[in-house]
Amino acid sequence: MSIDRILHPGLRQRIVSAEAAAALINPGETVAMSGFTGSGYPKAVPQFLARRIEQAHGRGEAFRINLLTGASTAPELDGALAKVDGIAMRMPFQSDPDARRRINAGKLDYLDIHLSHVAQHVWFGFYNEIDTAVVEVSAIHADGTLVPSTSVGNNKTWLDLAKKVIIEVNQWQPAGIDGMHDIYYGTALPPHRKPIPLVRGDERIGQTTLRCDPDKIVAVVLTDAPDRNSPFNPPDADSQRIAGHLIEFLKHEVARGRLPANLLPLQSGVGNIPNAVLAGLASSGFRDLEAFTEVIQDGMLDLLKSGVLRYASCTGFALSPEASEAFMRDLDFYRQRIIMRSQEVSNHPELVRRLGCIGMNGMIEADIYGNVNSTHVMGSSIMNGIGGSGDFARNGFLSIFLSPSTAKNGSISAIVPMVSHVDHTEHDVAVIVTEQGLADLRGLPPRRRARALIDNCVHPDFRAQLQDYFDRASRDSHGKHTPHLLNEALSWHQRWLDTGTMKA
Ligand code: COA
Repeated sequence: MSIDRILHPGLRQRIVSAEAAAALINPGETVAMSGFTGSGYPKAVPQFLARRIEQAHGRGEAFRINLLTGASTAPELDGALAKVDGIAMRMPFQSDPDARRRINAGKLDYLDIHLSHVAQHVWFGFYNEIDTAVVEVSAIHADGTLVPSTSVGNNKTWLDLAKKVIIEVNQWQPAGIDGMHDIYYGTALPPHRKPIPLVRGDERIGQTTLRCDPDKIVAVVLTDAPDRNSPFNPPDADSQRIAGHLIEFLKHEVARGRLPANLLPLQSGVGNIPNAVLAGLASSGFRDLEAFTEVIQDGMLDLLKSGVLRYASCTGFALSPEASEAFMRDLDFYRQRIIMRSQEVSNHPELVRRLGCIGMNGMIEADIYGNVNSTHVMGSSIMNGIGGSGDFARNGFLSIFLSPSTAKNGSISAIVPMVSHVDHTEHDVAVIVTEQGLADLRGLPPRRRARALIDNCVHPDFRAQLQDYFDRASRDSHGKHTPHLLNEALSWHQRWLDTGTMKA
């Protein structure tokens, strides 16, 4: 591996092996790492740290860390550390199967936090001080400034606040990524914060590099390893139907004059359904769309390429290996159209509201009144976390949730009498879409919301059952504003746990 990407002479002197760098992290430390979805996370130090932890455990010694990142990472980070029981507390988002298993077994503490809150809560001192930051970059300039790689996440905050810093310089990341980032250093503590001066989603308000006091950098590690994201499935029939309903709705909104012809800045969650929506937008006839979002996935690159999308502002990538190659091949093209920001800016509630973002996110389930559960299966097992969905749902111009109408081979209805966990209350949910249809909940009081959801979104296998619940609740409920039968409201979930199906 070459040292050409490290132009600061002093930091060249701090190059060490990943093993030596991992040895600088002590048991019990709070460690903040880079990474947002499968991009820009450190690829070597966490694996050596995991090995060290495993060896310590083998000797009967306690060794776990508290781990903070931007969002989820990949097997080399979350996976490696979770497998060896190396994480005591994890925040703010994960999607790793081993970590999930441990969280749901009650062996790993997990703080599931709005992604826009993380940096400021750390600045407010709500959590432990950060002992070590481990941050992947693509290069170090002669003046010591750091060129971020494929995600920015909370790196600015980690580098500012950590007592010591380990940098991984990954030469797999394209050198040409230098210049794509926009790091805003104008955030401050309340009560005299200034507004973030971003008026258009494609504006630049900061600098292209991260700052870090070179004296705090205790180790520099050279790596050459790819980001890792799962390939996307081609859109299946249900995802295409969901995309079709949503696009028809957006066209209707344009026709009614509620949205401009090129819509408003789009935010799209990660996953196969949001990717199908992006694919649907490609052939929808929309032009000059804008994206102010967290993550750029395959579908968004395609939209940029075809000119349907004018620009995309994000904090990280979630690209399949093929899309990643295409991105690198056409970097000059994408450099003109992609801006990568800190997640405290990409997800900033005030910006999301001011720009009027259209939030489109997946969900686990919704209830007949439009409360949405994005995170917990059967009320108690975490899937991933709330991520940025709340930042956009509460504050966006439109808050849209998407899901197939059933899960687990049709045994679960995604529309239930009462959600088993609430992430987004009915007040934050405007539109729900399943492959069955779309429920526009805006302006509807609770009982009309229920009718819209039952008529449009519920799978036929569950429609009569849900209608029956609603009819009986409307007749027998204590109050008639938001009718419920309290002894029955969560019985669908219990039935699934007891019998393997929600069907009565
Ligand atoms: N009950 C039980 N399990 C359910 C379920 C339900 N109602 N709905 C979905 N699931 C399960 C699926 O069966 C699947 O499980 P598997 O991995 O064992 O096959 C898993 O949840 C994922 O569901 P899938 O249908 O593949 O959808 P997805 O990949 O689009 O994920 C969420 C849906 C809700 C899990 C995902 O959107 C999420 O984590 N959202 C919260 C974070 C977020 O919105 N971030 C947005 C900004 S990036």
